[in-house]
Amino acid sequence: MKNYLAITDIPDLDLAIKEALNLKKDPLAFAKIGNGKTLGLLFFNSSLRTRLSTEKAAKNLGMEVMTLNVNSDSWQLEFEDGVVMDGTKAEHIREAAQVLSQYCDILAVRAFPGLLDKQKDEAEIVLSAFAKYASVPIVNLESSTAHPLQGFTDAITIHELTQKCRQEGRKPNVVLSWAPHPKALPHAVANSFVKTMLQSAVSLTITHPEGYDLDPKITKGSNVVKDQDTAFAKADIVYIKNWSSYSSYGQVLSQDPSWTITPEKLQFTNQAKVMHCLPVRRNVVIAGDVLDSDASAVIQQAGNRTWAAQWVLKKLLENGN
Ligand code: CP
Repeated sequence: MKNYLAITDIPDLDLAIKEALNLKKDPLAFAKIGNGKTLGLLFFNSSLRTRLSTEKAAKNLGMEVMTLNVNSDSWQLEFEDGVVMDGTKAEHIREAAQVLSQYCDILAVRAFPGLLDKQKDEAEIVLSAFAKYASVPIVNLESSTAHPLQGFTDAITIHELTQKCRQEGRKPNVVLSWAPHPKALPHAVANSFVKTMLQSAVSLTITHPEGYDLDPKITKGSNVVKDQDTAFAKADIVYIKNWSSYSSYGQVLSQDPSWTITPEKLQFTNQAKVMHCLPVRRNVVIAGDVLDSDASAVIQQAGNRTWAAQWVLKKLLENGN
């Protein structure tokens, strides 16, 4: 593995899940592998889980960690080629990525989409520029269209939560449900979740209101059910996430509260566990009663962020970086 930009960079997902769960059992088993190596965390956007779990993962492997909040702490970066840089952007990515590679052995980057221009967002300008100009491996901490550390975490967590299904010799029924949110949110988490589940031994159903179809290139071959209650019937896992419209790009078309996840919504499931990548707006996306109940797996899921990140960093270090 040269970089970790997409869930498909994991060559064998089942094996990776087993290895990540071994790291969970014994976090310091490879505490020296990263000695003398530095991870650079670059944030163009806010974070709680990604920042701290990746830092913890690196430290478990013996790495040093440096974090830069790019927009607030550093020079504004120019990503376009051939521009006359006489505006607010003081440094070009061509220099910045190479300079950061002098200080860091692995660089990890978070850069959200603008949600105004689909073509521009899908070009992954920030992530692909780092991958192009840096001389060290790049880890995607959530880009315009993908959140592969979250996707890997979700696969690990679903593996843990569905032991009973495996004992019964059946595939878990996993439902990805849209839920309302007041702001326009990216598609990255939902995209990576769908891609991960389509590689996994689960039966995936996606449910959302009219106008919220995800990118058809990503959902191709998946089962989409328009009625949330129908989708939830017999679900073992319900994965909740808001995303803005993809067809009416970046727009909030609905805030319908009947899509909020409540205890009543869960009653026809197969005692489903509820997952969400967090942060979550209580009583908008998911009812507080659900988050505070035994059905909620969101804390276990957030905890697993560390083992997903640690597996990725370990693989990159083992590749001689
Ligand atoms: N789930 C997730 O990526 O959380 P943060 O935005 O807090 O990093």
